Amino acid sequence: MADDQTRNSGKSDQTKSNDSRLPSSVQEARGRAQLLHETIHGSLQVMHRDFFREDQGLPIPSHSLEDVFKELARSHQVHLRWLAIDARAMDIDHEPRSDFDKAAVKALKSGKEWFETQTEKSYQYVGAIRLSASCLKCHLPARSSNDDRTAGLVIRMSLKQESP
Ligand code: HEC
Repeated sequence: MADDQTRNSGKSDQTKSNDSRLPSSVQEARGRAQLLHETIHGSLQVMHRDFFREDQGLPIPSHSLEDVFKELARSHQVHLRWLAIDARAMDIDHEPRSDFDKAAVKALKSGKEWFETQTEKSYQYVGAIRLSASCLKCHLPARSSNDDRTAGLVIRMSLKQESP
């Protein structure tokens, strides 16, 4: 046990252990992405329900969560970002950029709950974030109905490479 701790505190071993923590299949990557998506989605909704009040000059919950995204990127090499789907992008950084983003927007607009793609080295997932009427006051002030809209959460991670 003590040995393990000593080993893990070494810098080069730390890098190695990070590699060994990467998902080794698309199934595993998808499972991790879905767990992360649900955790972030649930936390965002609960922050709005229990802590956020519009008239108190509080930070916007999705923006606070971006600090968590930074930490996930730093310590787990999992990259998360928000994506506007069928409401206005509240920050220019949330607009679709890549072909993958655009395909994901199309899929989620058509009612799909999630969308994914993979290459040999990496896996990308977008899951739906529900924007209910209380969110649309800010997200789509000029809306003509109170039907739910959607935003997205993009999750990207590397896949473990087979050793040569
Ligand atoms: C008081 C206005 C306000 C309300 C109410 C509000 N938001 Fe937002 N939301 C914002 C602003 C402003 C941003 C941009 C924050 C930033 O990144 O600087 C944002 C950004 C987001 C984003 C990032 C993607 C995007 O659209 O740009 C998500 C996801 C999000 N909000 C979810 C929600 C959800 C879910 C609710 C309701 C439960 C909600 N918001 C309610 C103001 C609001």
